[in-house]
Amino acid sequence: MWSAPRLREPVRVPALVDGAVLLRFRFVVCAAIRETVAMDDGVVRIGILGCGNVGGALVRLIDDNADLISRRSGLRLVVTKVAVRDLSRDRNLTFAPGVLTNDVASVVQSDEVDLVVELIGGIEPARSLILDALKLAKPVVTGNKELLANGGAEIYEAAAIAGVDVLFEASVAGGIPLMRPLRESLAGERILRVMGIVNGTTNFILTQMTEHGSSFADALAEAQNLGFAERDPTADVEGYDAAAKAAIIASVAFGARVVAGDVYREGISGVSASDIAAARELGYVIKLLAVAEERDGAVTVRVHPTMVPNAHPLAAVRGSFNAVFIEGESVGDLMLYGRGAGGDPTAIAVLGDVIDAATNLHRGSRGATLGTLVHKPIRPIDEVQSQFYLTVDVEDRPGVLAAIASAFGTHGVSIQSMHQQGEGDEAHLIFVTHLAPEAALAATIHEVRELDTVKRIGSVLRVIGSGT
Ligand code: HSE
Repeated sequence: MWSAPRLREPVRVPALVDGAVLLRFRFVVCAAIRETVAMDDGVVRIGILGCGNVGGALVRLIDDNADLISRRSGLRLVVTKVAVRDLSRDRNLTFAPGVLTNDVASVVQSDEVDLVVELIGGIEPARSLILDALKLAKPVVTGNKELLANGGAEIYEAAAIAGVDVLFEASVAGGIPLMRPLRESLAGERILRVMGIVNGTTNFILTQMTEHGSSFADALAEAQNLGFAERDPTADVEGYDAAAKAAIIASVAFGARVVAGDVYREGISGVSASDIAAARELGYVIKLLAVAEERDGAVTVRVHPTMVPNAHPLAAVRGSFNAVFIEGESVGDLMLYGRGAGGDPTAIAVLGDVIDAATNLHRGSRGATLGTLVHKPIRPIDEVQSQFYLTVDVEDRPGVLAAIASAFGTHGVSIQSMHQQGEGDEAHLIFVTHLAPEAALAATIHEVRELDTVKRIGSVLRVIGSGT
């Protein structure tokens, strides 16, 4: 049985030490104290910041699965403090007296908390609370993609100095194990590229458009009615959510400092029903992909709608599911698939991290570390090579195709295929190129747009295929 933590002796620190030494000394002392406390009968006391969908599911799972967790880890997790904004809200959970509080900082500081779970999201106060917990040598589990995508390096470094874990499996692709495979299973692998469907809302919308011929607006309205999409869907449909996740993936996969602002981003609001139909005719489906790759020492990170060949495993990911496709030098291709959001799937990811961090705390060790994230050059999007699909509305007369093809040739963009749809006033040409730098494609488009016989450049989409 768990017993009250032993009283701590006051820690006496020599007066004349500089700040950094003092800070480190404090970490070491706190770590030693925490370790002693957590060793008591294998009990690890959890403080949770935020008790919404995920926090509530976490509290329930810790309770419902207590025996299973104890059998597998030898630990008993006890939720001793939970910080909420509104104490009066009915959460359908029963807490012992003194567990619930609306003083979030007191949970971090509490002597009854060994490990902190941050589920309040956003940058502040989450950042300060996490840093405070790490200074007290308390391991932290978080699902905060916004914070990690913008200030992850600071958090990882603080954890390294404190010598405790900061784990964040839930920050990308909800219930899909991804951070741990990248950090641990693939710790010895040279990862070449990670491509993910990491936003369920946009995948649901694109699936509705593909399978039911819906317009973007109708599919979005349906996603909102079903609760997949927010009333303001900007973060999802314009790719901001996926870009934050892409930054975290790139940081972990390549050990590089990548922030959301480094990610080239395009959303799906410009994808039309006719793009979807044309993609189908060519043997592709359109997916919003987050792509992170490292080539020749430089990292590329981008999010954009992409034509994915029907035969590629990512093409089969339907509805609100997520999937991440990893290409490694030695392991080859891997794919991880599952629920990228939702209370229970995300809480399971958080709980896995909690058990991992609690086990390490109990043993006085820590898990696989990210180490120091290094500065690697981020390749500008202009220099990134892709295959492209583009549609051009044209006047339907002799010589038009030759003039357009000449513009492609001038800028060194090689055409893989071309076909015409419609006739007369309805004529448009659909091109798929070979690999070409974005800058060359942009220059080609600029020149084609100037031709008298060209009425309009329609959609431009990147294509993944063989060799890309
Ligand atoms: N809104 C996200 C999605 C889940 O649609 O996948 C949270 O990141």
